[in-house]
Amino acid sequence: MVEKKEFLYEGKAKRVYRTGDPDLYLVEFKDDATAFDGLKKGTITGKGEVNARMSALLFQVLERRGIPTHFVELVGPREIVVKALRIVPVEVVVRNVAAGSLAQRLGLEEGTPLKSPVLEFYYKSDELHDPMINEYHIAALELATPDQVELMKSYAFKVNEILSQVLELAELILVDFKLEFGLHHGSILLGDEISPDTCRFWDRNTREKLDKDRFRRDLGKVEEAYQEVLQRITEAVGKQIQ
Ligand code: TMP
Ligand code: ASP
Repeated sequence: MVEKKEFLYEGKAKRVYRTGDPDLYLVEFKDDATAFDGLKKGTITGKGEVNARMSALLFQVLERRGIPTHFVELVGPREIVVKALRIVPVEVVVRNVAAGSLAQRLGLEEGTPLKSPVLEFYYKSDELHDPMINEYHIAALELATPDQVELMKSYAFKVNEILSQVLELAELILVDFKLEFGLHHGSILLGDEISPDTCRFWDRNTREKLDKDRFRRDLGKVEEAYQEVLQRITEAVGKQIQ
């Protein structure tokens, strides 16, 4: 039985606690939602549960396919136990279709398919508003070693292949997503969460947005979208396992 002990850290969407085991943390997913660097704030009822469940499900799929993750166990409706990580302060974004900041930066119409997946790094820094960086910045600032960068890149592309397959079964397009990695006893593990907060999911047929963009852009039916993608992805993982 893993106990919630001392409160460690509160982020915009999660709270992290120590447990009785120094190697394990407990992560509690909140219904709080923010966008645009915290400028926009709100609540998405049920989001904490959806994100905890979806992360648990997808981390398990990834582990089975050879990606080491921090996930240990879903222990409550909105709580997961994870391996304690020292987070690498680099966000890794992979994109299959132009959307969001890439569409803006490169003047592409949102929805334009990319000929090959695009991988980007962002420096995790609230004060600096997570600026985009490259491998030279990562080396110069010693954010990660070159070997760690290679590993994060290869894991990120593999995650893209695995998740794209699952989402295809759910009749969803994996437009883009953000990953975070961390170190646990010297090994790089996939951390954070995989959820509609950190991915863009579009319906394959209608191209309807079924992710946090509904909140960011005031598109309505936010809660419904979170519930729907969880249900569709849960069914898809079930089909894949059979
Ligand atoms: P972007 O198009 O706004 O750069 O977002 C790319 C992907 O990263 C998208 O799937 C949403 C995700 N993301 C986060 O998880 N956290 C963030 O703070 C931002 C800006 C994006
Ligand atoms: N989570 C980020 C924030 O609060 C941005 C986003 O997801 O759009 O600012």
